Amino acid sequence: MLKRIKKAVLTVMMFSLCGCSGTADQKPAGENYTIYIGTDLHYISPQLTDYGPLFTEMIETGDGKLTEHTEEIADAFVETVLKEKPDAVILSGDLTFNGEMLSLQDLKVKLDKLRDAGIKVLVVPGNHDIAYGFAARYEGYAIFKADQISQQQFREVMSAYGMDGALSKDSSSFSYVYELRDDLWLLALDCNTEAEPGSVSAGALRWAEIQLKKAKESGVHVISVTHQNVLPQSSMLADGFIINNAAQVLSVLRSGGVQLNLSGHSHLQHVSEENGLTDICTGSMSVYPLRYGILNIDKEGNAVYTKDHLDVVQDAAYERFTGRTREQTSMLLEDRNIPDDQKEKMVTFAVDMNTAYFSGELDPETDYRALEEWKLWEQYGKDTFWYFYFNSMLD
Ligand SMILES: [Fe+2]
Repeated sequence: MLKRIKKAVLTVMMFSLCGCSGTADQKPAGENYTIYIGTDLHYISPQLTDYGPLFTEMIETGDGKLTEHTEEIADAFVETVLKEKPDAVILSGDLTFNGEMLSLQDLKVKLDKLRDAGIKVLVVPGNHDIAYGFAARYEGYAIFKADQISQQQFREVMSAYGMDGALSKDSSSFSYVYELRDDLWLLALDCNTEAEPGSVSAGALRWAEIQLKKAKESGVHVISVTHQNVLPQSSMLADGFIINNAAQVLSVLRSGGVQLNLSGHSHLQHVSEENGLTDICTGSMSVYPLRYGILNIDKEGNAVYTKDHLDVVQDAAYERFTGRTREQTSMLLEDRNIPDDQKEKMVTFAVDMNTAYFSGELDPETDYRALEEWKLWEQYGKDTFWYFYFNSMLD
């Protein structure tokens, strides 16, 4: 069904931009604008691990991330961006593995190369970045506490990546408005403050409302970015995946005329649309196939989102992600009275479905429920989580 991914293009929105002239620093309306979008890199500094047995076991039994290769992954992303030279890069949170200060500082050094090349880098913190209790250093079979990142420290370390040069900043969070083009702003909404983790505070929402009103009065279009999703990306990815007060956030975005939000956190590549607002969830950069997104806004005002992937450590990423699914479904079916060849078909189907789902490659033209393998799951595994999960993917 799916072994290796191909580049796919998805047009998600088209809108008409006003034709005002440019200012000194920003691109004028009427010029193409390209944004590279990365999320959930979960970078760990090589200073924090010896890649020894404890670290390896933790990663291999985790959620499919290729954490031992985030150094190469981050470098590959930086190289790609330097080569392609987009106007801006947005990193929508979970920059660090588990909120280690050393990881943030080392990642910043890599991002500095982009800034030095004249590419704007704009970030928001993720839930793993701020005051996260699992920040650690790994050595052999031992684990040691590592310095975490407070909200204030994140603001200090990453100030060059959103806050400095912003048109407006919220005082209580890492939320800001950045002018991308003179007819296009980015509204970055921080949903991971120490005071209200998982939510956009009432104060930040009031501030956002004022910014969106200003944009409307100036005829400026606004794209927003959040770490957690504003819309559920599936029936199973609502609680814990969307912003806690998503209804209020959506209401502010919609009444402010925002049509497109960029998010991450769920680690899968997916698009949800509801009542004129599209939430594009870009897949985690450290999960197969090492996703990033490209948003092109042309001079006519058409916005096109393309999903792409990094051409490094693909085999290891594929093995990591599929290995976990294979292991879990094999164990589940082990004691069931199913002929071995049929059991193998069911396991392979689960591996392919899960991989296609996470990488945003499920084929809308394929009737998955008509496949022989689907019928086997219906016959032997209808009572399982996996059957329920397959249905949620297609629904
Ligand atoms: Fe997250």
